[in-house]
Amino acid sequence: MDYQALSNRYGTPLFAYDFDRFSAQYALLKDAFSGSKSLIAYAVKANSNLSTISHLAAQGAGADCVSFGEVKRALIAGVPKYKIIFSGIGKRDDEIAGALNEDILFINIESEAELARVEAIALELGKVARISIRVNPAIDPKTHPYISTGLRENKFGVDIPTAQRLYLHAKNSAAVDPIGIHFHIGSQLTDLAPILEAAHKVAELARTLIALGIELKFFDVGGGIGVVYKDETPIDPNEYAKGILSAIKGLDLTVICEPGRFLVSEAGFFLTRVLYEKRSGDKRFVVVDGAMNDLIRPALYHAYHRVEVVGKPSADANETLCDVVGPVCESGDFFAKNLPLPPIVRGDLLAIHTAGAYGFSMSSNYNTRRRAAEIAVENGVDRLIRERETYDDLFASETKLLKASK
Ligand SMILES: Cc1ncc(COP(=O)(O)O)c(C=O)c1O
Repeated sequence: MDYQALSNRYGTPLFAYDFDRFSAQYALLKDAFSGSKSLIAYAVKANSNLSTISHLAAQGAGADCVSFGEVKRALIAGVPKYKIIFSGIGKRDDEIAGALNEDILFINIESEAELARVEAIALELGKVARISIRVNPAIDPKTHPYISTGLRENKFGVDIPTAQRLYLHAKNSAAVDPIGIHFHIGSQLTDLAPILEAAHKVAELARTLIALGIELKFFDVGGGIGVVYKDETPIDPNEYAKGILSAIKGLDLTVICEPGRFLVSEAGFFLTRVLYEKRSGDKRFVVVDGAMNDLIRPALYHAYHRVEVVGKPSADANETLCDVVGPVCESGDFFAKNLPLPPIVRGDLLAIHTAGAYGFSMSSNYNTRRRAAEIAVENGVDRLIRERETYDDLFASETKLLKASK
């Protein structure tokens, strides 16, 4: 990817994605399940650009959505409704009704109270809600606490005895049809063992439920497959698939995976130009035009992202330590701390790696900054997939409400 040419053409800050690598990651996981029934339902939250979703849908992907807004995105992007799942612990009535009216594959239920709402809304609408229940298997996924979800203290899913009770209730309800079972223990997982432990625990519950006459069709193992930000050893997709398939051996279930990061993170780059270099005593700061409002992961999780100075050798003898920071008025606004960088001049371009997932989709307008543009490169051809916001875009929903000054 020619970072310099792309930055010249589209300006910075800029998110650039290699769509061919998105397809390659999709194929890697899909092929790992070859010979078995599987659906790769892309976790839209990782990178929700319509073109990203549409590109993955064209490869055969479905969509795992966590708001009705994401369901709408998936539909607009061309994901068939029978490949769309709606997850999340806090669905509003209008979102539940929206999902039922769109007739998506199923709704993932996260609590007893939510099951009651889905059942009531389905009855009101005269529909039968296809559901899956998210089981919290109480397993430590050994990842960052903010992205671990399968522990008892996490807010997600229901414990195994509750799940069993809810399935029995659902079986006897005319308004819900329990067709799936689901777990997701966390994100950026680099250890396969806890995933497989969870798969075996949930598969055991699936066997019990099937024996009780509940006709499950889907075994939804969530997302969470980790990627390489620095020096992690990632999970081998073939080992992952083999382990999951062995957990459900003998059961006639379609495996659903909900990868987000795995599909899109390594093929995404955040491009930002240097505005200034400044010193404060011994401390060196490189101030760039991108900020935490564009890519919040370092500020939020102290996440590591490799920073490359485009066109300059990485092991320069004149390197000194610096913090790479953005213009936002927060001390947490940094991309790297104590990073050795060569001498820098205004206008130098930095490529921040592994930024395709939870980059743009977590961005905001904090400090009244316009959100960045996004571009895709496919078969060597680049194209804009989201325009840089304009100031008019920023103010439109407020200016019309502004009282005329006296
Ligand atoms: C239920 C569910 N599925 C899938 C994902 C996607 O996770 P990842 O991007 O780590 O694959 C998440 C992320 O938090 C999630 O909560």
